[in-house]
Amino acid sequence: MDQALIEEIRQANNIVDVVGSYIPLKRSGSSFKAQCPFHDDSHPSMMISDKKQIFKCFVCGKGGNAITFVQEYEHISFIEAVKKLAERAGITVAEEKKKTKVIKTKNQLMLQVYDDAKRYFVNNLNKFGEEVIVYLEKRGITRDAIKNYDIGYALDSFNGLKNHLLNKHYGADILKASGLFGSNNNGHYDLFRERLIFPIHSSSGKVVAFGGRKLNEEQMGGKYINSPTTDIYTKGKELYGFFLTKFDIGKMDYAIICEGYMDFLRLYSTGYTNSVASLGTALTDDQLKILKQFTKKLYMAYDGDDAGMKAALRGSLIALGFGYKVNIIELPEGEDPDSYLLKFGKESFDGLIDKALPFIDFYSSSPKIKLDKKTRIDELLQVLNTISDEIAKDLLVKEISESFKVKESSIRVGLKKNRPRFRTDVKKSREPFSVSKYTEEKFVLILAIHSKLYEHILEELDETYFYVEKYKRLFKFIEKNYERVIEISTPSAILNLTEDEDIRNELSELIYEDSPSTDIDKFITEMKHRKLLEELIIVSDQLLQSPDNQELYKKKKEIRTQIRLLGAQVIGKTLH
Ligand code: CTP
Ligand code: MN
Repeated sequence: MDQALIEEIRQANNIVDVVGSYIPLKRSGSSFKAQCPFHDDSHPSMMISDKKQIFKCFVCGKGGNAITFVQEYEHISFIEAVKKLAERAGITVAEEKKKTKVIKTKNQLMLQVYDDAKRYFVNNLNKFGEEVIVYLEKRGITRDAIKNYDIGYALDSFNGLKNHLLNKHYGADILKASGLFGSNNNGHYDLFRERLIFPIHSSSGKVVAFGGRKLNEEQMGGKYINSPTTDIYTKGKELYGFFLTKFDIGKMDYAIICEGYMDFLRLYSTGYTNSVASLGTALTDDQLKILKQFTKKLYMAYDGDDAGMKAALRGSLIALGFGYKVNIIELPEGEDPDSYLLKFGKESFDGLIDKALPFIDFYSSSPKIKLDKKTRIDELLQVLNTISDEIAKDLLVKEISESFKVKESSIRVGLKKNRPRFRTDVKKSREPFSVSKYTEEKFVLILAIHSKLYEHILEELDETYFYVEKYKRLFKFIEKNYERVIEISTPSAILNLTEDEDIRNELSELIYEDSPSTDIDKFITEMKHRKLLEELIIVSDQLLQSPDNQELYKKKKEIRTQIRLLGAQVIGKTLH
């Protein structure tokens, strides 16, 4: 959708009215406040500013504009939220494609390739896949399910898909980038051959990758092969089935996590419409971040063997660190959710869910875990040390103490011991100044956003001038989206430009703050000064190592001169 239209729709919807239509607001000075719907809020911690058209929760950090509020509150896509607000304001959004020739971006083209490939595989199954359908039916996958999940069939051919797509006039470049083909001396060939095809959808329902399963044991290659990472698919980021189940996950407020394609299909068609598959091993950070918008409660239903148990534990530990409540569904050795449901049925699986133990209980008591007690506690403490919410941490300490029968005080001592000695991110970028000195970075960004000084900061600075990770990230965001950023009319419109939640939350904080009255150049000068000082320290260190190096000596002198020149402009700062 056209950016200008999106902006028109946003401006036609006052954020105070929009938020107020979902949750009760209270006036507070020139703003409004409300109990934050994005975390378990007991006070009204969310501020809604009429003037700045922004909301920001000062407890959980969530922030955004009217569109992103609707998006996050209703768990819908950005564009769906825009459409909803358009309707609310009585603005018509033309549904049909513009008559003018649309030039597709590379990603749109890639999505089209995947959509065509999916149709091709589905078509193959119907035309040539009688035996494959027999295989699926033997495994209890009905014709209905085959249709619903777009299950397909890759022929035993090195160029079936290739020729099909070439006939559709896709260029060689896009086919190469698609990850659907391998290459050798004779050129490109189909990666998926003689396999059952499971399309993997993005959370908005577009096919972005495939998984392919062997049809018989004698076949070469692994049991499954999967699409590689491409421009539209990052391995370990998507959750299989999530686009179908995300709303039910939100409604039921828990998700059943399984490992494989077949497990998901079985769970879903048995009526567990709040399931997803992590595909492969453990849950990843990325997957957990996506899920967290819908629920913070997980039921892990991994294979009953050692590998499954290991993967479940690893995923659970990561999830615990993200603030999830995790429960472990225990399957008998040799079963996975698919085989269990086929053998014992839904009622029996319901029983397993009922019996599922909270993770820490399970971790302290299950005979399946071969680690000694001390190792297990240490693993938990390491996770606890990554949690910043003190109350959540405290509750976990109590839980660990009770489950493992260890005194709370000993656990607290253990927590201190397990604290990481140094933070790697700090090590990477030296931080020679105290944190309070970093306010320049923040003010430069606030002023750039409020007074549209984007070009100015991009001319004067680059990312190496930023020491605080989040401000560096925002600077890079502005740099990367420069052309679109300079087009925007009001600060809160910048939030329309990104789907990255962290960036939105951080931007909202800066937009919410009032602009300092100081001139932006004062802050820019201080940042330059600061960087020179750091360079000076580094060169001085290097000179200590090699005192005869004339180049270094010259460099040091140059830096000193630059500092002196800048120094005249720097306010309130002295050289050491
Ligand atoms: N997997 C994979 N590559 C492999 C093996 C497994 O990507 N070589 C992933 C697949 O996503 C698979 C999941 O790990 O679905 C679980 O693997 P596994 O338990 O071996 O397979 P199932 O899903 O149970 O498949 P099936 O029931 O058909 O054997
Ligand atoms: Mn299986």
